[in-house]
Amino acid sequence: MDLDHLPVGASKREAVQNMFDRIAPRYDLLNRLLTFGMDQLWRRRSLSILGVDASDTVVDIACGTGDFADLARKRGAQVVGIDFAFEMLLGARRRKIDAGFAQGDALNLPLPDRCATAVTCGFALRNFVSLDPVFQEMARVLRPGGRIALLEVYEPTHPLLRALHCLHFKKLVPLVGGLLSDRTAYRYLPKSVAYLPPDEQLFASLKQAGFKEVRRKKFFFGAAQLLTGVLE
Ligand SMILES: C[S@@+](CC[C@H](N)C(=O)[O-])C[C@H]1O[C@@H](n2cnc3c(N)ncnc32)[C@H](O)[C@@H]1O
Repeated sequence: MDLDHLPVGASKREAVQNMFDRIAPRYDLLNRLLTFGMDQLWRRRSLSILGVDASDTVVDIACGTGDFADLARKRGAQVVGIDFAFEMLLGARRRKIDAGFAQGDALNLPLPDRCATAVTCGFALRNFVSLDPVFQEMARVLRPGGRIALLEVYEPTHPLLRALHCLHFKKLVPLVGGLLSDRTAYRYLPKSVAYLPPDEQLFASLKQAGFKEVRRKKFFFGAAQLLTGVLE
Protein backbone atom coordinates (compact mmCIF):
# COMPACT_ATOMS: atom_id res chain seq x y z
CA MET A 1 0.00 0.00 0.00
CA ASP A 2 1.32 3.46 -0.94
CA LEU A 3 1.04 5.35 2.35
CA ASP A 4 1.83 8.72 0.77
CA HIS A 5 -1.23 8.43 -1.48
CA LEU A 6 -3.97 6.74 0.50
CA PRO A 7 -6.10 4.55 -1.78
CA VAL A 8 -9.72 5.36 -2.59
CA GLY A 9 -12.62 3.48 -4.16
CA ALA A 10 -12.15 -0.14 -5.18
CA SER A 11 -8.42 -0.11 -4.47
CA LYS A 12 -9.06 1.09 -0.91
CA ARG A 13 -11.61 -1.67 -0.39
CA GLU A 14 -9.15 -4.30 -1.56
CA ALA A 15 -6.23 -2.86 0.41
CA VAL A 16 -8.27 -2.63 3.65
CA GLN A 17 -9.65 -6.15 3.28
CA ASN A 18 -6.17 -7.62 2.63
CA MET A 19 -4.68 -5.63 5.48
CA PHE A 20 -7.21 -6.87 8.06
CA ASP A 21 -6.87 -10.43 6.80
CA ARG A 22 -3.11 -10.09 7.39
CA ILE A 23 -3.21 -8.53 10.85
CA ALA A 24 -6.14 -10.61 12.18
CA PRO A 25 -4.04 -13.14 14.18
CA ARG A 26 -2.59 -10.46 16.47
CA TYR A 27 -5.31 -7.81 16.15
CA ASP A 28 -6.73 -8.24 19.67
CA LEU A 29 -3.33 -8.36 21.34
CA LEU A 30 -2.21 -5.16 19.60
CA ASN A 31 -5.47 -3.38 20.42
CA ARG A 32 -5.13 -4.15 24.12
CA LEU A 33 -1.44 -3.22 24.20
CA LEU A 34 -1.70 -0.02 22.20
CA THR A 35 -4.73 1.36 24.06
CA PHE A 36 -3.56 0.02 27.45
CA GLY A 37 -6.78 -2.00 27.56
CA MET A 38 -8.96 1.08 27.18
CA ASP A 39 -10.50 -0.10 23.88
CA GLN A 40 -12.61 -2.63 25.76
CA LEU A 41 -13.56 -0.02 28.35
CA TRP A 42 -14.74 2.28 25.54
CA ARG A 43 -16.79 -0.52 23.96
CA ARG A 44 -18.39 -1.32 27.33
CA ARG A 45 -19.21 2.34 27.92
CA SER A 46 -20.64 2.65 24.41
CA LEU A 47 -23.02 -0.27 25.02
CA SER A 48 -23.98 1.13 28.38
CA ILE A 49 -24.68 4.60 26.92
CA LEU A 50 -26.71 2.93 24.17
CA GLY A 51 -28.60 1.02 26.87
CA VAL A 52 -28.17 -2.36 25.16
CA ASP A 53 -30.02 -5.11 27.01
CA ALA A 54 -31.80 -8.43 26.50
CA SER A 55 -34.61 -6.76 24.55
CA ASP A 56 -32.19 -5.72 21.78
CA THR A 57 -31.16 -7.23 18.49
CA VAL A 58 -27.79 -5.73 17.70
CA VAL A 59 -26.06 -5.63 14.33
CA ASP A 60 -22.33 -5.06 14.77
CA ILE A 61 -21.04 -3.67 11.50
CA ALA A 62 -17.38 -4.34 10.66
CA CYS A 63 -17.33 -6.60 13.71
CA GLY A 64 -13.72 -7.70 13.27
CA THR A 65 -12.82 -10.35 15.84
CA GLY A 66 -16.07 -9.85 17.71
CA ASP A 67 -15.25 -7.58 20.68
CA PHE A 68 -18.46 -5.52 20.47
CA ALA A 69 -20.52 -8.63 19.66
CA ASP A 70 -19.17 -10.45 22.71
CA LEU A 71 -19.88 -7.56 25.07
CA ALA A 72 -23.37 -6.97 23.64
CA ARG A 73 -24.13 -10.68 23.99
CA LYS A 74 -23.01 -10.56 27.62
CA ARG A 75 -25.65 -7.86 28.17
CA GLY A 76 -28.24 -10.36 26.92
CA ALA A 77 -28.81 -8.98 23.40
CA GLN A 78 -29.15 -11.10 20.27
CA VAL A 79 -26.19 -10.20 18.06
CA VAL A 80 -25.20 -10.48 14.42
CA GLY A 81 -21.70 -9.43 13.36
CA ILE A 82 -20.82 -8.58 9.78
CA ASP A 83 -17.32 -8.07 8.38
CA PHE A 84 -15.76 -8.47 4.96
CA ALA A 85 -12.38 -9.80 6.18
CA PHE A 86 -12.55 -13.58 6.43
CA GLU A 87 -9.60 -13.91 8.82
CA MET A 88 -11.10 -11.36 11.25
CA LEU A 89 -14.36 -13.33 11.24
CA LEU A 90 -12.40 -16.52 11.83
CA GLY A 91 -10.95 -14.86 14.94
CA ALA A 92 -14.49 -14.05 16.10
CA ARG A 93 -15.70 -17.61 15.46
CA ARG A 94 -12.74 -19.08 17.38
CA ARG A 95 -13.90 -17.18 20.46
CA LYS A 96 -17.12 -19.19 20.44
CA ILE A 97 -19.20 -16.09 21.01
CA ASP A 98 -22.89 -16.97 21.06
CA ALA A 99 -23.71 -14.67 18.13
CA GLY A 100 -24.20 -14.99 14.39
CA PHE A 101 -21.28 -13.93 12.19
CA ALA A 102 -21.40 -13.47 8.44
CA GLN A 103 -19.09 -12.20 5.77
CA GLY A 104 -20.51 -9.13 4.09
CA ASP A 105 -19.93 -5.55 3.06
CA ALA A 106 -21.05 -2.69 5.26
CA LEU A 107 -22.15 -0.82 2.13
CA ASN A 108 -24.51 -3.63 1.21
CA LEU A 109 -25.43 -5.55 4.35
CA PRO A 110 -26.68 -9.12 3.83
CA LEU A 111 -29.57 -8.45 6.23
CA PRO A 112 -33.31 -7.73 5.83
CA ASP A 113 -34.87 -4.31 6.45
CA ARG A 114 -35.81 -3.39 10.03
CA CYS A 115 -34.25 -6.48 11.61
CA ALA A 116 -32.39 -4.68 14.43
CA THR A 117 -32.99 -2.35 17.35
CA ALA A 118 -29.36 -1.21 17.65
CA VAL A 119 -26.27 -0.95 15.48
CA THR A 120 -22.71 -0.83 16.75
CA CYS A 121 -19.58 -0.11 14.76
CA GLY A 122 -16.13 -0.02 16.32
CA PHE A 123 -13.13 1.78 14.82
CA ALA A 124 -14.24 1.15 11.26
CA LEU A 125 -15.66 4.40 9.86
CA ARG A 126 -12.32 5.51 8.44
CA ASN A 127 -11.90 2.17 6.71
CA PHE A 128 -15.04 2.37 4.59
CA VAL A 129 -14.79 3.48 0.98
CA SER A 130 -17.72 5.82 1.52
CA LEU A 131 -19.72 6.70 4.63
CA ASP A 132 -23.11 7.76 3.24
CA PRO A 133 -24.03 4.28 1.92
CA VAL A 134 -22.98 2.74 5.25
CA PHE A 135 -25.17 5.16 7.23
CA GLN A 136 -28.04 4.41 4.83
CA GLU A 137 -27.56 0.69 5.41
CA MET A 138 -27.61 1.27 9.17
CA ALA A 139 -30.92 3.10 8.78
CA ARG A 140 -32.31 0.35 6.54
CA VAL A 141 -31.62 -2.51 8.96
CA LEU A 142 -32.86 -0.58 12.01
CA ARG A 143 -36.45 -0.36 13.17
CA PRO A 144 -37.80 3.16 13.76
CA GLY A 145 -36.40 4.36 17.09
CA GLY A 146 -33.33 2.11 16.62
CA ARG A 147 -30.06 3.42 18.03
CA ILE A 148 -26.52 3.61 16.72
CA ALA A 149 -23.18 3.66 18.55
CA LEU A 150 -20.22 4.44 16.34
CA LEU A 151 -16.89 4.29 18.16
CA GLU A 152 -13.89 5.87 16.45
CA VAL A 153 -10.50 7.34 17.17
CA TYR A 154 -10.36 11.10 17.76
CA GLU A 155 -7.80 13.74 18.63
CA PRO A 156 -7.55 15.54 21.97
CA THR A 157 -7.99 19.32 21.71
CA HIS A 158 -5.63 20.28 24.55
CA PRO A 159 -2.21 21.08 22.93
CA LEU A 160 -0.15 19.01 25.39
CA LEU A 161 -2.46 16.00 25.19
CA ARG A 162 -2.59 16.39 21.43
CA ALA A 163 1.24 16.26 21.28
CA LEU A 164 1.35 13.14 23.48
CA HIS A 165 -1.42 11.54 21.47
CA CYS A 166 0.43 12.33 18.25
CA LEU A 167 3.61 10.74 19.62
CA HIS A 168 1.70 7.65 20.66
CA PHE A 169 -0.39 7.30 17.52
CA LYS A 170 2.23 8.22 14.94
CA LYS A 171 5.37 6.75 16.53
CA LEU A 172 4.54 4.09 19.12
CA VAL A 173 1.68 2.44 17.21
CA PRO A 174 3.75 1.86 14.01
CA LEU A 175 6.76 0.76 16.08
CA VAL A 176 4.99 -1.78 18.29
CA GLY A 177 2.65 -2.83 15.47
CA GLY A 178 5.66 -3.34 13.20
CA LEU A 179 7.48 -5.44 15.79
CA LEU A 180 4.55 -7.65 16.72
CA SER A 181 2.45 -7.69 13.56
CA ASP A 182 2.66 -5.83 10.25
CA ARG A 183 4.63 -2.59 9.84
CA THR A 184 2.73 -1.27 6.80
CA ALA A 185 -0.65 -1.88 8.41
CA TYR A 186 0.26 -0.14 11.65
CA ARG A 187 1.75 2.79 9.72
CA TYR A 188 -1.50 2.97 7.74
CA LEU A 189 -3.77 3.01 10.82
CA PRO A 190 -2.76 6.49 12.09
CA LYS A 191 -2.76 7.83 8.54
CA SER A 192 -6.26 6.51 7.91
CA VAL A 193 -7.66 9.17 10.26
CA ALA A 194 -7.35 11.49 7.26
CA TYR A 195 -10.31 9.65 5.71
CA LEU A 196 -12.67 10.89 8.44
CA PRO A 197 -14.72 13.81 7.15
CA PRO A 198 -14.91 17.08 9.12
CA ASP A 199 -17.31 16.98 12.08
CA GLU A 200 -20.06 19.03 10.39
CA GLN A 201 -20.05 16.74 7.36
CA LEU A 202 -20.15 13.61 9.54
CA PHE A 203 -23.11 14.92 11.53
CA ALA A 204 -24.88 16.10 8.37
CA SER A 205 -24.45 12.66 6.74
CA LEU A 206 -25.95 10.92 9.77
CA LYS A 207 -28.90 13.31 9.80
CA GLN A 208 -29.33 12.88 6.05
CA ALA A 209 -29.53 9.10 6.58
CA GLY A 210 -32.44 9.66 8.99
CA PHE A 211 -30.77 9.86 12.40
CA LYS A 212 -31.81 12.44 14.96
CA GLU A 213 -30.35 13.34 18.36
CA VAL A 214 -26.88 12.85 16.89
CA ARG A 215 -24.34 13.41 19.66
CA ARG A 216 -20.64 12.97 20.25
CA LYS A 217 -19.11 11.82 23.50
CA LYS A 218 -15.35 11.92 23.93
CA PHE A 219 -13.45 9.24 25.83
CA PHE A 220 -10.09 9.64 27.58
CA PHE A 221 -9.58 13.37 26.94
CA GLY A 222 -10.64 12.99 23.33
CA ALA A 223 -8.46 10.02 22.30
CA ALA A 224 -11.66 8.29 21.14
CA GLN A 225 -15.17 9.43 20.23
CA LEU A 226 -18.58 7.84 20.38
CA LEU A 227 -21.24 9.03 17.96
CA THR A 228 -24.79 8.16 18.92
CA GLY A 229 -28.11 8.76 17.24
CA VAL A 230 -31.69 7.52 17.00
CA LEU A 231 -33.49 6.57 13.79
CA GLU A 232 -36.54 8.75 13.15
C1 LIG B 1 -10.21 -1.48 13.00
S1 LIG B 1 -11.13 -2.93 12.66
C2 LIG B 1 -12.39 -2.86 13.90
C3 LIG B 1 -12.93 -4.20 14.26
C4 LIG B 1 -13.94 -4.20 15.40
N1 LIG B 1 -15.12 -3.45 15.06
C5 LIG B 1 -13.35 -3.66 16.68
O1 LIG B 1 -13.99 -2.85 17.34
O2 LIG B 1 -12.23 -4.09 17.02
C6 LIG B 1 -12.01 -2.45 11.21
C7 LIG B 1 -12.82 -3.60 10.64
O3 LIG B 1 -13.62 -3.06 9.58
C8 LIG B 1 -13.75 -4.08 8.62
N2 LIG B 1 -14.23 -3.45 7.38
C9 LIG B 1 -13.67 -2.41 6.74
N3 LIG B 1 -14.41 -2.09 5.66
C10 LIG B 1 -15.47 -2.94 5.64
C11 LIG B 1 -16.58 -3.10 4.78
N4 LIG B 1 -16.76 -2.31 3.71
N5 LIG B 1 -17.47 -4.05 5.07
C12 LIG B 1 -17.30 -4.87 6.14
N6 LIG B 1 -16.26 -4.78 6.98
C13 LIG B 1 -15.35 -3.81 6.74
C14 LIG B 1 -12.35 -4.68 8.54
O4 LIG B 1 -12.32 -5.94 7.93
C15 LIG B 1 -11.99 -4.71 10.03
O5 LIG B 1 -12.35 -5.94 10.61
